[in-house]
Amino acid sequence: MTTSQARIIELPKILDERGNLSFIEGGNHVPFNIRRTYWIYDVPGGMFRHGHAFRKQEEFLIALSGSFDVVIDDGTGEKRYHMSRSYYGLYLPAMTWRSIDNFATNSMVLVLSSTDYDPDDYIRDFELFKQMKL
Ligand code: TYD
Repeated sequence: MTTSQARIIELPKILDERGNLSFIEGGNHVPFNIRRTYWIYDVPGGMFRHGHAFRKQEEFLIALSGSFDVVIDDGTGEKRYHMSRSYYGLYLPAMTWRSIDNFATNSMVLVLSSTDYDPDDYIRDFELFKQMKL
């Protein structure tokens, strides 16, 4: 499998009766160097976030708590990933359309990004995205 494909990556898990522990190393567990990290929190149940794609940014999404669905389209059709375990992450290469829906109340999304924040990197028009994938 090449690094250019969206996929679930299982993270290391240290089982411990005091509480389990997982970790991520840039360039090792995720196939890019981590440049930026942000998180989405205080999410009301049933909420959704509209779709977009990134021209250059690669990202890795984890359900640190709660659950949600990531719906992606790489230009060949839609796939839905239900995220509910903090030791699984979803790797998304650049030029992947993604939206997030079906949030359980108070879910937390951790996002690792390969780039600095750049509003010009966003593609927010699905028709334009599909044209660019042709
Ligand atoms: P955005 O990525 O547009 O989220 P969504 O597409 O899910 O609505 O981010 C929402 C707002 O947060 C937007 O105004 C830009 C700001 N933002 C930053 O300032 N820095 C960041 O790293 C991110 C991810 C967003």
